[in-house]
Amino acid sequence: MHTRTLGQGLEVSAVGLGCMGMSQSYGPNPGDRDDMIGVIRYAVESAGVTFFDTAEVYGPYVNEELVGEALAPLRDQVVIATKFGWNIQDGKMTGTNSRPEQIRRVADESLQRLGIDVIDLFYQHRVDPDVPIEDVAGAVAELVQAGKVRHFGLSEAGADTIRRAHAVHPVTAVQSEYSLWTRDPEPKVLPACAELGIGFVPFSPLGKGFLTGTVSTSTEFTADDIRSRVPRFEAGNLSANEALVAYVRALAEPKGCTPGQIALAWLLAQHPWIVPIPGTRRRPRIDENTGATQVALSADEIADLDALAARIGVQGDRYNPAGMAMVGL
Ligand SMILES: NC(=O)c1ccc[n+]([C@@H]2O[C@H](COP(=O)([O-])OP(=O)(O)OC[C@H]3O[C@@H](n4cnc5c(N)ncnc54)[C@H](OP(=O)(O)O)[C@@H]3O)[C@@H](O)[C@H]2O)c1
Repeated sequence: MHTRTLGQGLEVSAVGLGCMGMSQSYGPNPGDRDDMIGVIRYAVESAGVTFFDTAEVYGPYVNEELVGEALAPLRDQVVIATKFGWNIQDGKMTGTNSRPEQIRRVADESLQRLGIDVIDLFYQHRVDPDVPIEDVAGAVAELVQAGKVRHFGLSEAGADTIRRAHAVHPVTAVQSEYSLWTRDPEPKVLPACAELGIGFVPFSPLGKGFLTGTVSTSTEFTADDIRSRVPRFEAGNLSANEALVAYVRALAEPKGCTPGQIALAWLLAQHPWIVPIPGTRRRPRIDENTGATQVALSADEIADLDALAARIGVQGDRYNPAGMAMVGL
């Protein structure tokens, strides 16, 4: 697969792999832990993926251990991104915490869980309203100075926060939800990234699976599937939103590709410094998702897709109210 360059010269495969779903959020795993290790290695060895996304809080903790073990024999070929920024008690997130001493502690613990000497990309997972972003950037800068971290990232931060952080220590990537049905970064965040030379990493680029056309109003989500609590996936909203997938499917069919590939190709077409990280636990879907790099969209098709969400009118928030309160636009 060809590579793309995020900010500060960080080169990664044009499509990465989100590993969160291997430990939480999308219901029962299709395989056991060894299978998941195999899927991660397959992504590198067969599909050329070199960019892997995890976080302290995924699991919590066990996802970093899984990713670290899977990538240990391939360490020199890959870029590993992880995230800090939460208080975690009894396995539950109990609020944001980006105090400098917490960032330093998480860095040491993540290094240990991942079994690596340096974290390639260390994101703040959510902006902490109690800690000035300058202090966060300063703490990460010290970790860079100490050789424990290579690059600094932010997740779901607003444009002002990104600018303030970047003024203290150069930001390499902003990771926020962005897809055909989640367009929040477009008015302010993407222009700020363009201006400052910061890469952008769309999470949930397949709309938590919805944009692949494999989710419908008859899909039953288990209690451990976050989609059972996301307003967009409530039956009434979902059935209204199906018009969006129908359009994408109609565009995909004559091209001989899938709706999910169109969703990823559209993201890739937005800017050369955008690197989506679709999450999957299945080898064939790794091939499908990375195959999106081969899908060509014309300028007219891109313009049509640009306008699609507004034309259809996406129904329902992308998080519950507590989650919505934590994202900066
Ligand atoms: N920074 C943040 O706050 C944040 C938040 C959410 C996620 N993330 C990161 O972003 C990554 C990706 O986001 P995401 O996992 O939430 O959403 P996503 O990539 O949009 O969708 C994942 C869902 O789509 C399914 N899927 C994947 N490829 C498919 C295909 N080709 N055909 C049909 N279904 C497919 C997966 O199921 P299977 O696994 O069964 O294939 C899973 O249910 C995560 O893994 C995580 O690393 C970050």
